[in-house]
Amino acid sequence: MVRHTPRPEIGLALDPEREIAAIIGPSGCGKSTLLRCFNRMNDLYPPVRYEGSVLFEGTDILRNGIDLVELRRRVGMVFQRANPFPMSIFQNVAYGPKLLGVRSRRELEQAVEGALRQSALWNEVKDRLNRHALGLSGGQQQRLCIARALAVKPEVLLLDEPASALDPTATAKIEELILEIRSAISVVIVTHNMQQAARISDRTAFLMEGTLVERGRPGTSSPPPGAIDGGLHHGSIRIGSSHGPPLSSRARRRSATG
Ligand SMILES: Nc1ncnc2c1ncn2[C@@H]1O[C@H](COP(=O)(O)OP(=O)(O)O)[C@@H](O)[C@H]1O
Ligand SMILES: [Mg+2]
Repeated sequence: MVRHTPRPEIGLALDPEREIAAIIGPSGCGKSTLLRCFNRMNDLYPPVRYEGSVLFEGTDILRNGIDLVELRRRVGMVFQRANPFPMSIFQNVAYGPKLLGVRSRRELEQAVEGALRQSALWNEVKDRLNRHALGLSGGQQQRLCIARALAVKPEVLLLDEPASALDPTATAKIEELILEIRSAISVVIVTHNMQQAARISDRTAFLMEGTLVERGRPGTSSPPPGAIDGGLHHGSIRIGSSHGPPLSSRARRRSATG
């Protein structure tokens, strides 16, 4: 069992503003756990206790009363192992928009096509959208999971070693699409692969036993101006971009109405 210091020294502004931030470090150092702080996915792995703060659009998402459904729509996540739902390709991608209340067939089709194009899967599946998702190859399944996450139009996408189970060709496709979606969305990717971090990331955080020991552009000794080091206090993490309303106002509105 891995034991970490109770107060990891993490003062980190993952503020990619449509850029790609990578978190790298040896296996077991806490990368996935840190990533799961950013959309409170750790809540699903009890018992968990958060310390410090994670600021998203200026709101501390670790505090009580945060609308977790809304948070996870805005901060989407894709895991190490592709996990398509046991249904058709179309239904996988339409799942999120449907949950959000999209009913019109036309709108659903547009959402599905848009997300599949963004995840560089459209050309491979456009003629077989009603086929079962589990008939796709491993790499296609992972791109489908990315499409499913993108279909609800998140502002940040968290990727936890999305290519570690894939062959080099499938990995290259995932890396290409990550570089593509950066124009629309901020990406935080966990990888144990230094080369991958160097290839695709604008900023890098290196974690060691739960502690941030190095940060900056891969291959450089100090961060570029305005990069990860934002003069934050230890125990404080800032993610996201400048677009979108602050989460707190929505959460407040919702709790005020019911
Ligand atoms: N900040 C932390 N405090 C206490 N335990 C932690 C912390 N971060 C990670 N762990 C524990 O360490 C183990 C490995 O963490 P994990 O996030 O899976 O590492 P990685 O993804 O880098 O391999 C898990 O059992 C996790 O619960
Ligand atoms: Mg992990």
